[in-house]
Amino acid sequence: MWFPKVGALALAYLTVATSTPIELQNDASASVPSVSGLKFNIDGTTGYFAGTNSYWIGFLTNNADVDLVMSHLKASGLKVLRVWGFNDVTQTTSGVWYQSFISGKTPQINTGANGLQRLDYVVSSAEAHAIKLIINFVNNWGDYGGMPAYNTFYGTTKTTWYTDAKVQAQYQAYIKAVVSRYNSSTAIFAWELANEPRCNGCATSIVTNWATKTSAYIKSLDPNHMITLGDEGFMNGGGDGSYPYTTGEGMDFEANLKIPDISFGTFHLYPTSWGEKDALGFGNGWIKAHGAVCASVSKPCVFEEYGMETNKPATEGPWQTTALNTSGIAGDMYWQYGDTLSSGKTADDKYTIYYGSSDFASLVTGHVKNIG
Ligand SMILES: *[C@@H]1O[C@H](CO)[C@@H](O)[C@H](O)[C@H]1NC(C)=O
Ligand SMILES: *[C@@H]1O[C@H](CO)[C@@H](O)[C@H](O)[C@H]1NC(C)=O
Repeated sequence: MWFPKVGALALAYLTVATSTPIELQNDASASVPSVSGLKFNIDGTTGYFAGTNSYWIGFLTNNADVDLVMSHLKASGLKVLRVWGFNDVTQTTSGVWYQSFISGKTPQINTGANGLQRLDYVVSSAEAHAIKLIINFVNNWGDYGGMPAYNTFYGTTKTTWYTDAKVQAQYQAYIKAVVSRYNSSTAIFAWELANEPRCNGCATSIVTNWATKTSAYIKSLDPNHMITLGDEGFMNGGGDGSYPYTTGEGMDFEANLKIPDISFGTFHLYPTSWGEKDALGFGNGWIKAHGAVCASVSKPCVFEEYGMETNKPATEGPWQTTALNTSGIAGDMYWQYGDTLSSGKTADDKYTIYYGSSDFASLVTGHVKNIG
């Protein structure tokens, strides 16, 4: 998602609760997820999966809230959860932060109780509930810092971020800090380079070269887990020729999917934000166009974020059916999961589908049943 997600939620959790970590299940059937043909193998079973996104779960400070979400995901049959593995700040804060870019100071990675230990809890709770996580390392957007936080600090730009030596050294240091914490966990579905990387107006080789280098670096740190890009899936031609099928944002879906250390592809779908009038028709075409590329490159792809502000079941339901029936598409993850925590309802950006709602019954319970 490209619009601000910093809302009431960011302010709601400023104190770190100190409850006892839960015991891990040590389930003997748990294994590291892997590619299996054009699908994934999750804990010994190969098939299509349903999942969702929660950017905020690693910023919660109450362990019971994390466990509540994980138990609801498990009960619903949602197998994969995508979370923000970054939380970059540019000022000192008493809240949760993972990495700081404060003018005049050396960037810091926070491994303390209000830092990566919050993400540790998400990983341990995911292990206990047999939920798999996609963890990404930087945001293209300014929410929770992202590339703009690096750029303000280093004097770089949206374009030079991908090639600047100091930026890339700090980005890799951050990746190493996160990956080495969880490299032996069966709860990691995949490491993800960024949320929605774009390089507007750039030659597509800039992002492709950066993704080649970064994925090789991650592979050198952790040869056991899958790696993916986290892009929106903008294509170099095809489809109806409209904006998402162009390289205006410096992205070439097929070229990036062919990178050796990229295990699978990702794509997102927000037709309204992209100026597409026929959300349903455009979306079905977008899903099929990606499936065709993924099948031709012989790597599975994940329909990783999608959403509508209104008419969710009438639009997202048929998209799910299309994804389920398209070769090359191995799973879908709607944006975004909602629940009621100790502090109240989680952030509502109009795309949220709350656990227990009628939209949830249709787009989660019904969908999971169709997957079988
Ligand atoms: C995980 O990373 C640490 C630190 O880089 C390393 O010492 C360890 O061998 C790695 N473990 C696995 C299972 O790859
Ligand atoms: C989707 O595929 C399944 C199995 O291949 C088939 O039974 C079903 O009719 C298809 N649904 C649609 C809407 O094409």
